Amino acid sequence: MKHCTGIQNLSDADIDAILSRAQTYADQINAGQPITPSLNGRIVMNLFFENSTRTRTSFETAALRLGANVINWDVESSSIKKNESFSDTIQTLAEYDPDAIIIRHSEYGAPDYVASMVKCPVINAGDSWREHPTQALLDAFTIRQAKGRIEGLTIAICGDIAHSRVAASNMALLTRLGAKVRVIAPDFLMPEKPLAAGIEKFTSMDAGLPGCDIVMMLRNQKERMDPSRMPSDIAFFNQYGLTIDRLDLAKPDACVMHPGPMNRGVEIADDVADDPTRSLILKQVRNGVPVRMAVLDLLINR
Ligand code: CP
Repeated sequence: MKHCTGIQNLSDADIDAILSRAQTYADQINAGQPITPSLNGRIVMNLFFENSTRTRTSFETAALRLGANVINWDVESSSIKKNESFSDTIQTLAEYDPDAIIIRHSEYGAPDYVASMVKCPVINAGDSWREHPTQALLDAFTIRQAKGRIEGLTIAICGDIAHSRVAASNMALLTRLGAKVRVIAPDFLMPEKPLAAGIEKFTSMDAGLPGCDIVMMLRNQKERMDPSRMPSDIAFFNQYGLTIDRLDLAKPDACVMHPGPMNRGVEIADDVADDPTRSLILKQVRNGVPVRMAVLDLLINR
C-alpha cells in the first residue's frame, strides 16, 4: 500500500492490516495506555478543499496521537484565492517535503492526481461522489465491533446513493468482506452506472429493510445535484426517513449507522439517531481516530 486513494486500490492484506492495527490502537486509547509515537517528527499535511468536521479532526487527532506534526492548510486563506492553480498549489506544498498528504476535494480522482505528482503517501479524505475509503474502513471496523463479524450480515445503505462517496466505498468494501449489501433509494437517487454484482436494489424502505442487520443512512447531498429534482425535506422524510417504526422492520437487534453530518428530520428521526443501544453513530465518530492512525502509520512507516 503506497497510497490510500480508494478501496479498489487496497489488497485484502492491506485491509486486514488496517483493521487489525486499528484494533490495537482502539484498545490502547480505551485503556488510557501510552501509544508508541511512531510518527515522531513527521509532518502530515491536511488539504481540505471541502468542509469537514469528522474527517479532518480525526485525521489530525490520529496524527497527533502518533507524535506527528500537522499542518492544517486552509483553502480560504491560500493563494488559490489569488487564482493559483491546483497543480501549482500541490507542487508548491510538495516542496516542503511532507511525510503524508491527506486531501478532500470535489473533483473526481483528485487524490490520484496528487499521488502522481508527489513522493509521499496520499490519503483520500473524500473526492467528489467517487470514494471516501477511510470512512468505509471505519464503518467496517464499527460493524465488526458491534456484530463480531461482517461476513453474512445483511446491510442496507439508504438514501442518496447516487452522490455519496461513502456509499461507493462501503459497497466496494463490505461486499469484499462478505456482507450482503442492499441499497434503498428512489430511482432519482440511484447511481447511473449499474451496481456491482450481488448488490440488491430496492426503491422502498418497507421492501428493503426486513432481514437487515445494519441500516446505514445517508445525507442528501444537495450540493452535488440539481436540488429542484428533490422533493421537500418533509416529503422525503415521509417516504425514506428512518423512524423507529421503520427500523422495527429490520432484525430486532439491527443497528443504525450514519457517516455524518446528519440532517435530522430529513433522512433520520431524532429518536433513531440518539437510540442508546441501536445507534452506532457516535461509535463511528470515535473509531475514526484508531482507523486513521492505522492508515497513517502503515503508509508512512511502510
Ligand atoms: N463522514 C464525513 O466525511 O464527515 P465530515 O464531512 O464531517 O468529515
